[in-house]
Amino acid sequence: MPQREAGEVAAVGDRQATATAESTPRRDLSPRALRVLGAGLGGGIVLALLSVLASDGAAPGTPLRQSLAIAGSLLLLVPLAFSLGKRSGRSRRTPAWFSAHVLASALGAVLVTAHAAAGDLLSPPGLVWLALMGLLAQGLAARLLLSRPLSTLFSSRLGSFREAEPDLRERLRVVIRRKQTLLAALDPAADEALFSPNLRHALRHPWLTWRYARLAATEARLVGRGEAGLVLAYWRRTHIALALLFLLGLIGHVVLVLFFAGYVAGDGPVDWWHVAAWGG
Ligand code: HEM
Repeated sequence: MPQREAGEVAAVGDRQATATAESTPRRDLSPRALRVLGAGLGGGIVLALLSVLASDGAAPGTPLRQSLAIAGSLLLLVPLAFSLGKRSGRSRRTPAWFSAHVLASALGAVLVTAHAAAGDLLSPPGLVWLALMGLLAQGLAARLLLSRPLSTLFSSRLGSFREAEPDLRERLRVVIRRKQTLLAALDPAADEALFSPNLRHALRHPWLTWRYARLAATEARLVGRGEAGLVLAYWRRTHIALALLFLLGLIGHVVLVLFFAGYVAGDGPVDWWHVAAWGG
């Protein structure tokens, strides 16, 4: 394990960024590709909405629209696989996974819109659709509007912050030493400059992982990423909260239409593919 001294403070962020960039092939989507994708997504959603106006008697439960809903929902589960893969520590090609997650969500959203728009959008499943739209808009906006200004903020604030805190070096040295001591127990083979805990560490050593994460957060704040990190963390948390709401809503909707079809249909006929018509 290389010994990081406090004198290397200025290089901490740079070293980690360079090391990550060297060890991970960049297959991320460029801002231009993301903009094209955003435009395609918007166009696809408008077309899906128009398809409902153009067809007489369109209903979300027709064989075609229900199949689109199933295909779209499966595609929308790719981000979940992405999220779990990232945290398991097994995925070595995170940027490729990131592209897959964006593409799959965009296509899935268009298919699901062709299904949902044929019904009443001012209904509980309509809220699931709205959560999905919010999720996509927020995710795209975060990527396009937030990452560039933040990188400027990282580089511009570092110097002034250090001048304002003369004891910064000493405090950083203490934090890094503590991280190294913890890491020796948490993952002895890991390099502290490159290490970040994943799901496997959290499951095996929850307490050590939590303490390590706290120290890493303190270190990030001390080297000047605090303000930027806070904005990013807020956006990420909102994104994850919206995604969880969407996922819970989707599960609830699918369970209701497939198993409690009688309840969903009310006095009308159950005219869609289902497993049981409980609650009728
Ligand atoms: C993100 C995924 C989904 C969204 C946002 C969504 C949204 C909607 C909306 C807004 C409606 C109309 C509700 C109404 O008119 O009261 C609806 C109805 C329906 N959905 Fe979905 N849905 C999704 C996935 C699915 C899946 C995966 C299935 C099948 C397994 C499905 C099956 C149905 C059926 C059968 C109806 C018709 C129920 C009725 O006629 O009252 N949906 N959905």
